Amino acid sequence: VSEPDATVGQPWHSWAASRPAFAGIHLDAAAAGRMSIAVHHAITDHLRRESKVGAYIAEDEAAAPVAAGRAALGSLLGIPTEGVAFVESATAALRSLLTAWPLPEPASVAVAPSEWGPNLRAFRMRGVDARTLPIDSNGLIDLDALPRQLATCPPSLVHVTHVAAHRGLIQPLDEIVTLCHAAGVPVWVDAAQALGHVDSVSNADAAFATSRKWLCGPRGVGVLGVAEQWWSRLQVEPLVLAPDRPVVARLESDEANIAARLGLCLAVQDYLLAGPAAVQHRLAFVGSLVRDALSTLTAWRLVPSPTSFGAIVALEPTERQDVTAERRRLLREHQILVTASQPARAPLEMTSPSLRISAHVDLTSVQLDALTRALSSSPLSRL
Ligand SMILES: Cc1ncc(COP(=O)(O)O)c(C=O)c1O
Repeated sequence: VSEPDATVGQPWHSWAASRPAFAGIHLDAAAAGRMSIAVHHAITDHLRRESKVGAYIAEDEAAAPVAAGRAALGSLLGIPTEGVAFVESATAALRSLLTAWPLPEPASVAVAPSEWGPNLRAFRMRGVDARTLPIDSNGLIDLDALPRQLATCPPSLVHVTHVAAHRGLIQPLDEIVTLCHAAGVPVWVDAAQALGHVDSVSNADAAFATSRKWLCGPRGVGVLGVAEQWWSRLQVEPLVLAPDRPVVARLESDEANIAARLGLCLAVQDYLLAGPAAVQHRLAFVGSLVRDALSTLTAWRLVPSPTSFGAIVALEPTERQDVTAERRRLLREHQILVTASQPARAPLEMTSPSLRISAHVDLTSVQLDALTRALSSSPLSRL
């Protein structure tokens, strides 16, 4: 983004050129990234094929790329291919886990206060008691205090939302998993904001994510991975029509949007081709550029982020602006798409709405200037 014009250097210029031009400025990858034209084609070609040869024949034909995508998704989560299931969303993955996991009665889960709100609801609905883990002043799980807490009050599992949706917070996943395993406590990971954004390979016992965010796959599809030591303990009946299906894959919906699964698999291939480390590095850089640029605003304050951040940036209003109205104003007057985050996203730590900016790798300096100007301009919509 050091370029003075609207372009970015390679390979991110190609990344931008490989998808339809956005009607404005898209700074909303944490909600849904933009699919590439190749992903569109994979989806529409498959749909056409369903009409031409029959949906189940087309599904058989798509077996090889879907198998390759399953293996690739597993490798990105640190899970063997046989432990990977395609699901409809991250939420659906968590629901499946809560049904199939051999949880004790009563069960409890320990989470950071930054936990994704709808996950807390899923735990509640399954009767799993959620309690909070000790954190440091940034909101990161306190690695010194964690062993003590696990020893004195061991939960049935620890659930980590690796990358928070509402602010730049990336939990130290490897260290958390190591400490939990040393205490005999399994770890599940919500990688919805992590996959395609930061390194999401881990030794966790289960991990799940969605296609549409940083991987820029289609909506309505996601992934769930379960580590091998749990396969024989999952409570999933064999399928009547497919008794040989691996146990984790039994969690998949049989009647599924195969075109969307194919789209996800292609998006994963795109990500692997771009190079996960290069994408992750670029996204961290993009996040730091956005933070630097927005730190000069007076009507908005950066929500503090700890030292390791990614591309999610949050702003709190300092002049009682109505965040939802401001988000609408940015779109209507400046064609800039961002998110208004409501406290329900992280009810254990958020007390008021914030504005979320989540640029992908193709952010340009011109876009960043436009955002800064738009956020500086009045009139502000006040509450
Ligand atoms: C951290 C986190 N977890 C879970 C989800 C839910 O994902 P899905 O909409 O695919 O169920 C989201 C969606 O924004 C998220 O940000």
